[in-house]
Amino acid sequence: MSMPIHGAAPQKIVLPGVRCTLAVASGKGGVGKSTVAVNLAVALRRKGQRVGLLDADIYGPSVPMMLGLGTVDPRTTRFPLEKFGMKVMSMGFLVPPERAVIWRGPMVHKAVAQFLSDIDWGELDYLVIDLPPGTGDAQLTLTQSAPLTGAVIVTTPQDVSLIDARKGLRMFQEVRVPVLGIVENMSYFVCPKCGERSEIFRHGGGKRCAEEIGVPFLGAIPIDPAVAVQGDLGVPIVESHPDSEVAKIYDQLAERVYAAAQEVHAQQSPLPSL
Ligand SMILES: Nc1ncnc2c1ncn2[C@@H]1O[C@H](COP(=O)(O)OP(=O)(O)O)[C@@H](O)[C@H]1O
Ligand SMILES: [Mg+2]
Repeated sequence: MSMPIHGAAPQKIVLPGVRCTLAVASGKGGVGKSTVAVNLAVALRRKGQRVGLLDADIYGPSVPMMLGLGTVDPRTTRFPLEKFGMKVMSMGFLVPPERAVIWRGPMVHKAVAQFLSDIDWGELDYLVIDLPPGTGDAQLTLTQSAPLTGAVIVTTPQDVSLIDARKGLRMFQEVRVPVLGIVENMSYFVCPKCGERSEIFRHGGGKRCAEEIGVPFLGAIPIDPAVAVQGDLGVPIVESHPDSEVAKIYDQLAERVYAAAQEVHAQQSPLPSL
């Protein structure tokens, strides 16, 4: 029997119109979780999928900026918003990011639960959820109550980040959410002048971590200044430069995520092919 970890497990939210719900998670902040969530969502949409993006990082909602959106008047706005052909919701539409730090764990859960159940997401093939970083109570409650197909864990090659990634893996295992795999972000650097690839940190940490835990390694994304620039400009790199190397890597990531999610769905409700 599975034991609830902190008191009773929260009520599971049901989203009948959503075929696949992906949590993008990280053990700590600053590893590029939001960047990966946003570009993965765009990559899936570019493959003809109906995509929603929920920014559940109530502490640091960065999805609005990354999509060129800001606060709106909730009295005259219908949520979710639409951008780049995706449905998007974020606390950053209601509260400016600099005011978001006052949120407490239970409030975080309540807000995200409302974003999931009170907003009309309609029919979606994928709902990508940018989770708050870390493995505390707020994250745990969210992973228990959201109807997650699986989790994608983002890490960087540094040891500290990998230790936190392992904590994330354990959290999902405890709440029985399948971990679809690990993505290593800021993995290496390709010199724009000579094309030489340098490993800035010790190589292969994400891959080793994935092998250790027995989950797929979904890919390595290089450090690329254009990725950060596009994030700041509000047009994700996969949208602005679909033919770039990084966009191709995101393409591959989308395909691997699809394959892993398909395995979870098994025979019951296969996903539309990419
Ligand atoms: N592959 C990358 N190359 C260069 N900059 C990146 C990359 N991934 C993320 N960044 C930058 O790093 C910073 C943190 O990324 P972000 O996605 O906000 O992290 P998190 O959501 O984990 O806190 C941002 O300024 C972002 O543009
Ligand atoms: Mg973030």
